[in-house]
Amino acid sequence: MSSSVRYRKQRPSPTLPQRKQPDLWPADERRVEEIIENEEEFDDGSDKVTAFEIVRLIFTVLVINFLLSYFITDSYFWNYDSLILRPRYLQFLLYRALDASGALPHLLPFLPSSSQLHTFSYPRNFTDSELALYNGKTPGLPIYLAINSSVFDVSEGRTSYGPGGPYHIFAGRDATRAFVTGCFTSDLTHDLRGIDEEKIKTDVAHWVGFFEKSNKYWYVGHVEHEPITGPPPGPCQSRAMRQKPGVRRGDGVIQ
Ligand code: HEM
Repeated sequence: MSSSVRYRKQRPSPTLPQRKQPDLWPADERRVEEIIENEEEFDDGSDKVTAFEIVRLIFTVLVINFLLSYFITDSYFWNYDSLILRPRYLQFLLYRALDASGALPHLLPFLPSSSQLHTFSYPRNFTDSELALYNGKTPGLPIYLAINSSVFDVSEGRTSYGPGGPYHIFAGRDATRAFVTGCFTSDLTHDLRGIDEEKIKTDVAHWVGFFEKSNKYWYVGHVEHEPITGPPPGPCQSRAMRQKPGVRRGDGVIQ
């Protein structure tokens, strides 16, 4: 069977007649361009958040946060206590960085409290007599104490270690022996001869840990002691040995 397929010739679809663009005068064209440009500028401004607005928002949130914290907890950081929030520690970090970069000597005349930093370096090596200057009595100098030869800045505890404070006996010296024995009269030395090794280990580790982990004090260096000579300190004579040191003003150890 033969089948005949009939192909219908496709008729071209009718096209709409092109509308003729009216010609504009050059002045009108410029005006149209201006209007389009203005509209684009207007659109940009309404959609985007500027950097200034972001900074202003962050600043407002921070100020509200600090004020709320101050009124509720009496501290600007919701009672959060950390070394990094202490201005003296931040100053120490800044000087440390400047010193490491070699810029500190040039900047010293322009920095506050520069007198105390003339010999600044980190970690700093002290002699016993250098350390003695940092006992809280030398104007302009911080308060340092040493334990097991490590020197810590304890200026933030001026009420404890400053003149008249209960632990002023520790300031400006390495009195590791007194930390172990609790004898604050004759044991103000780093000489540990004659003390039980185990007790030294645990007590020294305890107090070194106390200063290292403190959120008030920080490590500043090392004290190179004179060689120990003479006999070791004898047994503690003070009957008030187990009292809090500051209470024992009658012993004559409060300096
Ligand atoms: C081995 C004996 C002792 C040593 C080595 C010692 C040492 C210390 C040290 C280093 C601090 C930290 C101060 C600070 O930086 O905040 C401290 C705090 C304190 N100690 Fe002692 N202590 C001894 C015995 C005593 C005794 C027997 C008492 C009580 C009678 C006492 C009462 C206090 C109190 C109340 C504080 C906290 C408040 C403050 O600093 O005044 N301690 N002690």
